[in-house]
Amino acid sequence: MTDSSTRPALTFDGSPVPFRDGQTVGGALMAAGISSWRTTRRGGAPRGLFCGIGVCYDCLVTVDGDHAQRACVTPARAGQVVESADPHTPVSERVRRDG
Ligand code: FES
Repeated sequence: MTDSSTRPALTFDGSPVPFRDGQTVGGALMAAGISSWRTTRRGGAPRGLFCGIGVCYDCLVTVDGDHAQRACVTPARAGQVVESADPHTPVSERVRRDG
């Protein structure tokens, strides 16, 4: 078994997030306990994975500078730079504010 310190990692809003081979960005974020990474324009409701199959577009992130990528269908890669819709606000603050 590989522990998380030896697994490849992407960065999410500047923090390392380890992943397993075959995981998507969304899967890696969820496995790291991050369930929300953007908010709705109206109401500011937290959003993350919903359908998990690339249909609903609730899971949008910026990946290596490409905006509006679906986290649920984007393969995780080592060194990938993933940003939430509001990368300067820690996820914990957004969840507390919205939740
Ligand atoms: S969770 Fe629905 S498109 Fe990604």
